[in-house]
Amino acid sequence: MRVLITGGEGQLATALRAAVPEGWVVNIAGRRELDVALASSARAVFEAFEPQLVINTAAYTAVDKAEEEPDKAFTVNTDGARIVAELCVESSARMIQLSTDFVFDGRKSSPYLPGDAPHPLGVYGSSKREAERLVLETLGERAAVVRTSWLYGAGGKNFVMAMLSRMQAGQPLDVVADQIGTPTWTRTLADALWRIGRRPDVEGIWHFSDAGVASWYDFTCAIQEEAISAGLVENPVVVKPIRSEDYKSMARRPYYSVLDKTRTWGELDIVPVHWRMGLRGMLMELKNG
Ligand SMILES: NC(=O)c1ccc[n+]([C@@H]2O[C@H](COP(=O)([O-])OP(=O)(O)OC[C@H]3O[C@@H](n4cnc5c(N)ncnc54)[C@H](OP(=O)(O)O)[C@@H]3O)[C@@H](O)[C@H]2O)c1
Repeated sequence: MRVLITGGEGQLATALRAAVPEGWVVNIAGRRELDVALASSARAVFEAFEPQLVINTAAYTAVDKAEEEPDKAFTVNTDGARIVAELCVESSARMIQLSTDFVFDGRKSSPYLPGDAPHPLGVYGSSKREAERLVLETLGERAAVVRTSWLYGAGGKNFVMAMLSRMQAGQPLDVVADQIGTPTWTRTLADALWRIGRRPDVEGIWHFSDAGVASWYDFTCAIQEEAISAGLVENPVVVKPIRSEDYKSMARRPYYSVLDKTRTWGELDIVPVHWRMGLRGMLMELKNG
């Protein structure tokens, strides 16, 4: 199988790289090699590599900044996904498109099913929702959209790395305690994506995150406890729970964005990993280099 992965320098692509199925030929292309928003750049890579499967991880992921530069977010997330999908049609490739829990508005109080109606609250979520629609419309049964949430991997740009560096600097932290979701380790998501890659019958919208739920505050307390146990943080800092309305940010985020993974776990024979175990694994990976 010849697999093209876009967004090659991102944290998810890095985890995919570490777990390529044996015998598969993979081209992990960074933005300089393949800019998804530039059809000519994407076409050149498609023509040279002739992928059979494309995993589109490339994205504009700065949720707050997207409110100030919506054109940039839509250009990468929506136009980019459409360009990749159209090239997949031309080359008869299958596509896995990454999407987000932020396509939901968070008004539900039980986990979101793949068929629940999306209603994004901000530019990032809207650009990703529009991408989902275009990819499915363009490729039909040859596309799988995988929604995930609160992603982190060792060394990536993410919440865990940001909190760790503040803890290491001894900074007290005020953290939002009224937004509930599920943190997800890039490594467990990468495993799920490779399983989907091996299953051409998997099409449409799928949900994947780690198991369990947390607020950003709960997550931060766990990061601190686990980081101290792992020897990555020496002294605890004060972590204070606050309300979303007391935290200034450009983008509105859903209060509740837990995804229902029942079908994904069952169909793909995945043993769910509690987010806290994922966190422990990621910190161990960070510690051991
Ligand atoms: N991070 C999360 O919490 C989260 C949650 C739910 C869903 N997701 C989705 O999961 C996927 C992977 O996210 P991630 O956390 O791995 O993101 P990431 O670490 O920010 O990686 C995304 C990569 O895409 C690259 N990129 C940006 N514009 C591009 C373009 N025009 N052409 C090609 N590459 C471009 C970025 O490069 P630059 O750094 O140079 O911009 C970056 O290397 C994305 O689709 C994201 O929307 C993420």
